[in-house]
Amino acid sequence: MKGVILAGGTGSRLSPITKIMNKHLLPVGPNPMIFWSIFKLKEAGIKDILILTNREHLSSFIQLLGLGEDLEVNLNYKVQEGAKGIADAVSYAKPFVKDEKFLVILGDNIFEDSLSPYIQSFKNQERGARVLLKEVGDTTRFGAALLNEKNNVISSIVEKPKSVISPYCVTGIYMYDDSVFELIDWIQVSERGELEISDVNNLYASEEQLQFDILKGWWIDAGTWQSYYQANSFIYDWLNTEKGRELQY
Ligand code: G1P
Repeated sequence: MKGVILAGGTGSRLSPITKIMNKHLLPVGPNPMIFWSIFKLKEAGIKDILILTNREHLSSFIQLLGLGEDLEVNLNYKVQEGAKGIADAVSYAKPFVKDEKFLVILGDNIFEDSLSPYIQSFKNQERGARVLLKEVGDTTRFGAALLNEKNNVISSIVEKPKSVISPYCVTGIYMYDDSVFELIDWIQVSERGELEISDVNNLYASEEQLQFDILKGWWIDAGTWQSYYQANSFIYDWLNTEKGRELQY
């Protein structure tokens, strides 16, 4: 299976540094943020990776990562024109993944769990999509997932709900079959001017084709100063654990 890392966007919640720098290149622990996504994909056996970013920062990524030789992965790059949302970014992956199943990870999502068992479940899934959820206290900053536990699927996702409607938020790890590209063509631009990934996921959900797993370890979306600080704190603590020392990233 191939992997796609989304590393574009404006990073406005991390302004002013993001006026001159891509969010995914900021340090988290001893590494640039994007390294953690690459490590997670590699740990799960995904070595063919597409990095999507904006034109302005492409050369910085290439300078830092090259074709992935140092990290022992195969990196490809593509430019997303304008910050038109996660679903728009995913649409750029079509020529790279062709008609295979693939995994998308938001480059500012850092987490502890290995992806391997979740990828295996998705491989066993005949069709549709699969997302990874995390139980959090406040889901209003995220996509909140309502579950149909009887059928083990998500019944719907509400993006940035006004109140806490579910304990589960959708993290930035999405697995899709090739029907995702057709579904992206169907959705409309949201009020914030983006093609929302939750709208795509809701199309899968309406067909009972959106399955899920719940992450067990810590997870953080490092897109705000507060959560960026927390991401650093999780990583430094984790580096002192047996697993962290063992992997020696
Ligand atoms: C995006 C998704 C949201 C998800 C979050 C995870 O939010 O739209 O559903 O919960 O990533 O990091 P954004 O960071 O674009 O506000």
